[in-house]
Amino acid sequence: MINRDDWFINWFNSKYYHILYKSRNKNEASNFIQTIISTLSLKSNNSVLDLGCGNGRHSISLSNHFKLVHGIDISSENISIANENEKENLKFFISDMRNFDTKIKYEYIFNLFTSFGYFKKNEDNIKVLKSCYNHLNKNGLLFIDFLNSEQIKRTINGLKETKNINGIRFNIHKEIIGDYVIKKIEIKDGEATYNFQEKVQLFKIQDFKKLFEISGFEIISSYGDYQMNPYDPNSSRLILCAKKIS
Ligand SMILES: C[S@@+](CC[C@H](N)C(=O)[O-])C[C@H]1O[C@@H](n2cnc3c(N)ncnc32)[C@H](O)[C@@H]1O
Repeated sequence: MINRDDWFINWFNSKYYHILYKSRNKNEASNFIQTIISTLSLKSNNSVLDLGCGNGRHSISLSNHFKLVHGIDISSENISIANENEKENLKFFISDMRNFDTKIKYEYIFNLFTSFGYFKKNEDNIKVLKSCYNHLNKNGLLFIDFLNSEQIKRTINGLKETKNINGIRFNIHKEIIGDYVIKKIEIKDGEATYNFQEKVQLFKIQDFKKLFEISGFEIISSYGDYQMNPYDPNSSRLILCAKKIS
């Protein structure tokens, strides 16, 4: 099922992903996790899963609040960085979110910072949500922190920008093709040039409602940013809290 040509295998395994997104750090993650916990009064005596955990920045913060934290990511590079923080209640696994099996059930599953919408086939999105369903306790909660498609559609088509970070030049071009937002990233590092892309399906809240209905969830609340303000079409994010229904 894993296709080594898929954009998300190459890009998230590259050192340049971490350089481009270096401001998305442990500090930002820790603030967000504390805000989610206090907004929803999450109970600490529980096991939780960080699905698409990357280098583990949210998992580390979660491990300061919850009994047991597992982080799953398909990128071996990310998991080897995350493993530097492994401890008694914090374990990481290389696995595909479409068919993982950690043998335990969680109270909460977190899928954060646009770690959804990467696949070509809708059945793969459903597989992710059904795997979450199977790994949640009765009434367990799934959090999806996603881009706000409504806002993206209005603002980014054709946008070009250049970033210079650590002496590396990132030429970025964003465009919308069909249902997907595509971010092409050309990297100039010394004499070398590399090309990557991100390609994310532009799910709106109504699309998530349908996906959740098929896979046994209902949305119980929605938020529009990392301070957990209410969602509206101009929000910077679409953050959904969905409950497992039996
Ligand atoms: C945008 S990054 C976010 C990482 C992390 N949640 C954070 O906030 O730093 C998306 C992550 O999803 C992971 N990922 C992509 N496809 C995956 C899959 N099929 N199964 C598991 N992880 C996947 C990537 O390797 C990457 O680490």
